Amino acid sequence: MALLEGENLTKSFGGVLAVDDVSFSIDRGESVGLIGPNGAGKSTLFRLITGVHEPTEGHIFLDGDEITGKDSHDICHRGLVKTHQIVRPFEHMTLLENATVGAEFGGRDVDDPREKAYESLEFVSLDHLAHTEPDELSVGALKRLEIARVLATDPDVMLFDEVAGGLDTDETEAIVDLIGDIKESGKTIFLIDHVMRALMSVSERVFVLDNGQLIARGSPEEIQNNQRVIEAYLGTSAGRDHDATGPVAGD
Ligand SMILES: Nc1ncnc2c1ncn2[C@@H]1O[C@H](COP(=O)(O)OP(=O)(O)OP(=O)(O)O)[C@@H](O)[C@H]1O
Ligand SMILES: [Mg+2]
Repeated sequence: MALLEGENLTKSFGGVLAVDDVSFSIDRGESVGLIGPNGAGKSTLFRLITGVHEPTEGHIFLDGDEITGKDSHDICHRGLVKTHQIVRPFEHMTLLENATVGAEFGGRDVDDPREKAYESLEFVSLDHLAHTEPDELSVGALKRLEIARVLATDPDVMLFDEVAGGLDTDETEAIVDLIGDIKESGKTIFLIDHVMRALMSVSERVFVLDNGQLIARGSPEEIQNNQRVIEAYLGTSAGRDHDATGPVAGD
């Protein structure tokens, strides 16, 4: 049964049609990847889902309830959260305090936010650094802290926007394993990444956005062999496993 649904979603910014009549459905426990060229509208689609932007047209449903136009905080309370494309932890707080903010202010019925935060740090293998501040962390560890912050909210659905962007091979491997563990724990996952190996290995299905429109959806194998997708994206970008340009403010 569908846990997350988008119906005819459209978002225009002045003359730019960033998301153009996109409909999709993701079942509970599924992991779905979202790919497409730079500027295709991927992050904008995620921002519509998480309430950062209100769609110009269309509807979003979470577990059957309409969440269109609700604010991010309300959507987080209902169990849907997103990691940021650029990670910005609170610098003068420890890792544990950073994760506790997620549990306290984003979470739902979290009895002991500090305990939940600590568990989340354990899950991402950062518990040994719980009482240190984030300024010394590698990019990979910062990404894992961002995942811990989001996990501490006890979500049902997790959206990852380029969580493997900018990571080296080992760090990417660690993130892929971590997303696999998160999936095993029963969460529903929707993720954007330009690192094709990573995305294809954790996704059961893949959606392709080009120019705001969903041009294909299918298994990773089907997508990798889809002529239209190869022309729009894979043929030029996938082989390079490139990182994307930075996010738009308000992410
Ligand atoms: N807040 C905004 N105001 C105006 N235009 C925007 C805004 N956010 C996104 N856009 C435009 O919408 C289009 C889609 O951008 P978006 O960031 O969603 O693409 P993306 O697929 O995430 O790209 P990337 O792979 O580079 O992260 C682009 O043309 C972008 O310039
Ligand atoms: Mg983006």
